[in-house]
Order: sequence, then structure tokens, then C-alpha cells
Amino acid sequence: MEKRRLGRTGMFVPAIGMGTWQTFDVRGETAVKNARSIVDMALEAGATFFDSSPMYGEAERVLGLAVEERRDAFQIATKVWADTAAEGWAQAKRSLSFFCGLIDLYQIHNLLNWEEHLAMLERLQDEGKVLAVGATHYLSSAFAELRRVMETGRIAAIQIPYNVEQREVEREILPLAADLDIGIVVMRPFGGGVLIRGSPSMEELAPLKPFGVNTLTQALLKWILSDPRCQVAIPATSSTVHMAENALAGSPPWFGTDERDYVLRLAQRF
Ligand SMILES: NC(=O)c1ccc[n+]([C@@H]2O[C@H](COP(=O)([O-])OP(=O)(O)OC[C@H]3O[C@@H](n4cnc5c(N)ncnc54)[C@H](OP(=O)(O)O)[C@@H]3O)[C@@H](O)[C@H]2O)c1
Repeated sequence: MEKRRLGRTGMFVPAIGMGTWQTFDVRGETAVKNARSIVDMALEAGATFFDSSPMYGEAERVLGLAVEERRDAFQIATKVWADTAAEGWAQAKRSLSFFCGLIDLYQIHNLLNWEEHLAMLERLQDEGKVLAVGATHYLSSAFAELRRVMETGRIAAIQIPYNVEQREVEREILPLAADLDIGIVVMRPFGGGVLIRGSPSMEELAPLKPFGVNTLTQALLKWILSDPRCQVAIPATSSTVHMAENALAGSPPWFGTDERDYVLRLAQRF
């Protein structure tokens, strides 16, 4: 798995990580065990960057249980998602307790109340409990505000949606991030799953085989990561088999312009 420098965070991250929205919002012994097996598989495959949030129900707790006795092997990105500073502080205490007192990348979820939360995250960073501070948004209508936050110079990474059907970030967000050396975490690489509508034939995938791509999902992930401005993509999955398949897209060789165009055409057919 290729490791990439995540902007000014000071972190080197694997090209494939994992999201936990819905997939890790689980209860009960069997479901929690399954989440742990996915984490085991991710570790084995080198996909050791995980994203979560207090917005995702049980996900932070379940992820915390799966990593606690080997915390150093992972990079944990989570978020504050709160209307008030007091609620944000309560979330931070909870999140830090799930992840052995350390959060690698602490993000402001959907820019909610970002000014107050940014000050809190900077204090936690000064105390050594947070390594880097970031911000996320999933809507292009919020990108103007996201640009303003990037221009404060106070965040080292952003998390944004980018995939074959959702390419608004190419216009202003990715160029600005490159100018300011802000790291990029890519959410929703499969558009929440809707981009995986079928399976291309062996013949259709043949031009991508020299790039180590054998499935549509690998093609979609490699399409994202072949833009060097995108350092880590975080597909979510509830399956160890899917985790292993996704991780294989995190190594070179990367696509050139021709292969990226080919994947765009291929994806339109599914
Ligand atoms: N505002 C924000 O900050 C924000 C917003 C949205 C998302 N996020 C983050 O981004 C992460 C990823 O986005 P997402 O969860 O919305 O969607 P996604 O990763 O684009 O898609 C997830 C879906 O893809 C399926 N999938 C994964 N690997 C597969 C494979 N190899 N073959 C077939 N299906 C596969 C999963 O089903 P299976 O379970 O069957 O594998 C799941 O239904 C989230 O989990 C979250 O951490 C952040």
C-alpha cells in the first residue's frame, strides 16, 4: 500500500483507509465481532486510516473497541459535530476516551459551529491529544465556506466527496488545497454504493489489468487516487472480502489520463 504525505498534517497515510458511517453503527456481539474482523483485515492489508464521527451512532465506540489494544498501528480521524462549544467539549472527552487519549486527525463535521470548535481543537493539539486539525463537508453548496476555512491557515486537511460522478471539487477545492498544502481525505468514493451498479466483463476490465485492477470498485478507487492531490480514500464496508478488495487499489501503478477517461466511460455504463 502506498503511503502519502497528508498535506501539512505531518502524517503519512495509506492511500486506502476506511469510513465507518452506517457500517460500524452496530450493536450486539456478532455485529461488533464482524466490525473487528474488518479492522483486522484492514490492518493486514495496510489500510490503517479510519474515519468516524459522533454523528455515526455507535461507530466511534465500536471502532475504539477494535483498535484499543493496538492503537499505535492505526491513524484515527474523527469529528466534532455539535451546535455548542459545551456539547463539542463533551464529545471530545468521549472520543478521546474511545481512542486511548489520542486522535490523529480531528475534523469539524460539516463545518458546524466551526469557529468555536476550531479553538477547542487547537487547544487539544497544543496539549498533544490531537495531531492535526481538519474540516469536512459533503455538499458542494458549502464549498465557498469550506474555502474560507481553508484560507484561515488553521486547518491541515479537509475531507470532501470526490468520485466519477461527483467532481465539483476539481474546480476550486483541489487546486486551493494544493496551493495551501492542505491534505485531502476523499469520502464517498462509491457515492454511498450507488456507483457499484453492476460488474463489467473481463474484456471491459482488460485495459486496466496492467494497473492491478480486476473489479469495478478497484477501478473507481484507483480513478480517485490517480489524482496525486487526493491522498487517502475512505470507502466504508461491512465485509472483510470487500475490505481486502478495496485495499488492493491503494498501490501503484497509477492511471494516466487515458485510463482515467476510460474509467469514466466504463462507469457510465453501470
Ligand atoms: N460529512 C462528512 O464528513 C461525511 C459524509 C459522508 C461520508 N463520510 C465518510 O466517508 C465514508 C465513506 O462514504 P459512504 O460510507 O457514504 O459511502 P461509500 O464508501 O462511497 O460506499 C459505501 C458502500 O459501498 C459498498 N462497498 C464498499 N466496498 C465494496 C466492494 N468492494 N464491493 C461492493 N460494494 C462495496 C458498501 O457495501 P458493503 O458493506 O456491502 O461492502 C457500502 O454500501 C463514510 O463511511 C464516512 O466515514 C463523511
